[in-house]
Amino acid sequence: MAGAGVPVQVASRHAAVVVVLVLAAAHGALCGSNHVEFAAGAVAGGGYAPSSRSPRVNGTGAAGGPAPAPSSESLAGCGCGPAPAPWQFLNQKLAALWPVIQRFKNTITCDPKGVTATWEGTDLCSSYNNGTQYKGFYCDFPPNAPTTLTVASIDFNGFGLCAPSLAGFVDQFPDLALFHANSNNFSGDVPDLTHLPFFYELDLSNNNFSGSFPDTVVPLGGLLFLDLRYNRYAGAVPPPVFALTVEALFLNNNHFDGRIPDSFGSTGAKYLVVANNEFTGPIPRSIYNTSATLSEVLFLNNRLSGCLPYEIGLVEGLAVFDAGGNEITGPIPLSFGCLRDVEELNLAGNELYGQVPDVLCLLAKNGKLQNLSLSDNFFHSVGHQCMELVRSRVLDVRRNCILGFPNQRPPMECAAFYADPSKHCPFIPHIPCDLPGYKPHAKGAAVALPGAAAAHGGHGHPQPQGGPAGGGN
Ligand SMILES: *[C@@H]1O[C@H](CO)[C@@H](O)[C@H](O)[C@H]1NC(C)=O
Ligand SMILES: *[C@@H]1O[C@H](CO)[C@@H](O)[C@H](O)[C@H]1NC(C)=O
Ligand SMILES: *[C@@H]1O[C@H](CO)[C@@H](O)[C@H](O)[C@H]1NC(C)=O
Ligand SMILES: *[C@@H]1O[C@H](CO)[C@@H](O)[C@H](O)[C@H]1NC(C)=O
Ligand SMILES: *[C@@H]1O[C@H](CO)[C@@H](O)[C@H](O)[C@H]1NC(C)=O
Ligand SMILES: *[C@@H]1O[C@H](CO)[C@@H](O)[C@H](O)[C@H]1NC(C)=O
Repeated sequence: MAGAGVPVQVASRHAAVVVVLVLAAAHGALCGSNHVEFAAGAVAGGGYAPSSRSPRVNGTGAAGGPAPAPSSESLAGCGCGPAPAPWQFLNQKLAALWPVIQRFKNTITCDPKGVTATWEGTDLCSSYNNGTQYKGFYCDFPPNAPTTLTVASIDFNGFGLCAPSLAGFVDQFPDLALFHANSNNFSGDVPDLTHLPFFYELDLSNNNFSGSFPDTVVPLGGLLFLDLRYNRYAGAVPPPVFALTVEALFLNNNHFDGRIPDSFGSTGAKYLVVANNEFTGPIPRSIYNTSATLSEVLFLNNRLSGCLPYEIGLVEGLAVFDAGGNEITGPIPLSFGCLRDVEELNLAGNELYGQVPDVLCLLAKNGKLQNLSLSDNFFHSVGHQCMELVRSRVLDVRRNCILGFPNQRPPMECAAFYADPSKHCPFIPHIPCDLPGYKPHAKGAAVALPGAAAAHGGHGHPQPQGGPAGGGN
């Protein structure tokens, strides 16, 4: 496997992670009970060169895992006896890890697959030689001791273990690079891992963690992958979290609330998912600052409000933008026409209004747009280019306020919405990129530049269905 024997360099590590994450992608982060897993699945090889691993979109744990065993059996041979003599281990590093594992084993309160029964004896690196002992532990040669095999990664994905705390365990592996614990029942505090020089992937997804955002994670400077989704964390996300060097940040399906901090713009993440939480306030305008890196961002199903920021259109590399199921209002800024790489754009279930701009729909023809979901908003019309997309089902505008279209909202509901002055947003007609083939002054400048009036007044005014052109048209 690629993992074993590959020289360990920061660069190769980095590249390898990208491979894994590209396979993962942000949408995978939302799969209900089937969680994307990042198994250290390769039998041999540890964590310093993670390209040997493959994500598994399944909740079933490592392939070929042991059959469920009764817990009484799995508690047998818990390693409570005297420690083996140091010479029985391959090296001192492994001898020092033995009591760490045994102590942790004694705190485990459920083990439906019986994995801890394999945590016996002195062959901690059994998996390195394709053995079956010490399931979940993977060894490799650390960068600073290239001849000493030690535990480089721990992968408990899908084991279903219960333990009240990971403190005194994960933090006691000095050469650890990865800790993956998807679909277990761990809880308590996340231990301080700042003293682990090689550590870069933390996956605590689908566990039983609660309380406020784990403080100990914030200072992890070398982190490339952070996955806390599907837990019961609540409260604010500390602003420095978005300044972490991670390439993937999955915070979805918790109870985080408060505003998404302006530090959002500092994220270097390629995949960022904050979906299915209780965030409020607007999408930060600082998002423009992520244009060099951000590829997939999922805000869906929060309580985000405010106007849809023009700055989103400056994030040139966006492939997936999903802010569905929020309370965001305003027209779609024409800057969205600059999202040449966007494949999926979901704004369904918000309070957006005005016309669906032609520049956006043109992305299906001149760009990569495949799915434009705008249902359950208050749009009153669609640009000429958009008509085709409705027909080809790329564009979904059901349950809006579009006169003459099927499946629209009742006229009274639309009238009430358009009469509400609290929904007014600034409209910037400027398109911050060259769009070959797009002629803003051609047929119906009012169509191309909705809110021309607003450009003077500084605010676009939503117009009632069938109202005069200009304004928020
Ligand atoms: C998930 O695992 C189950 C049981 O092993 C299998 O039947 C199913 O095809 C798997 N699904 C995927 C997406 O791999
Ligand atoms: C372990 O298995 C892999 C793949 O099956 C093989 O390439 C490797 O040589 C094996 N290692 C040992 C030590 O048997
Ligand atoms: C965690 O424990 C609860 C209660 O015992 C159980 O319902 C749930 O399935 C467990 N979760 C996992 C991922 O094993
Ligand atoms: C989940 O965590 C709570 C404390 O937050 C604890 O009382 C409960 O026992 C845990 N459940 C499992 C299955 O470990
Ligand atoms: C932009 O990102 C850099 C790091 O990439 C950060 O230092 C800076 O504070 C960010 N600025 C804003 C306005 O977000
Ligand atoms: C388009 O995106 C919406 C919202 O994300 C989703 O519900 C729908 O299934 C997608 N349609 C297709 C054809 O992929």
